[in-house]
Amino acid sequence: MRPLNAEDEALLSAARAAAANAYCPYSRFPVGAVVQTERGRFAGCNVENASYSLGVCAERSAIHNAVAAGARAFVRLVVSCTAATESDPPGSRMPCGACRQVIAEFMAPDAEVIVDGAGAWTVRELLPAAFRLARP
Ligand code: THU
Repeated sequence: MRPLNAEDEALLSAARAAAANAYCPYSRFPVGAVVQTERGRFAGCNVENASYSLGVCAERSAIHNAVAAGARAFVRLVVSCTAATESDPPGSRMPCGACRQVIAEFMAPDAEVIVDGAGAWTVRELLPAAFRLARP
């Protein structure tokens, strides 16, 4: 992991702002994400549902938002769990396994995912040996 720079910090601010839009009445755990693409930045937040399993994470919300706008080149993803505290385990800030698979679909193995409070990770570090369909 490398230290964060000013550009990372600007993206982190945008991800924290996106978390303010989270719909999370069940978990009360807001998450925001911003993906940087060739068509600009796209934000997402977690959107929960009374039927719990229908909820969607912030990372997938941001990526799907970008794809729907025509973006295909994903440079960097930033995620912030704004309710995570110092005493929470580091894993409480990290992208879930499902999001890692979706991230691996759109981002190169060397592309970076910046996690608020947990540093910068490559996609490869987050999901080595990602599932790939042989004949997409
Ligand atoms: N959540 C995310 O938005 N991203 C993740 O990678 C992990 C979890 C959301 C899902 C749910 O709304 C809340 O955090 C608690 O699990």
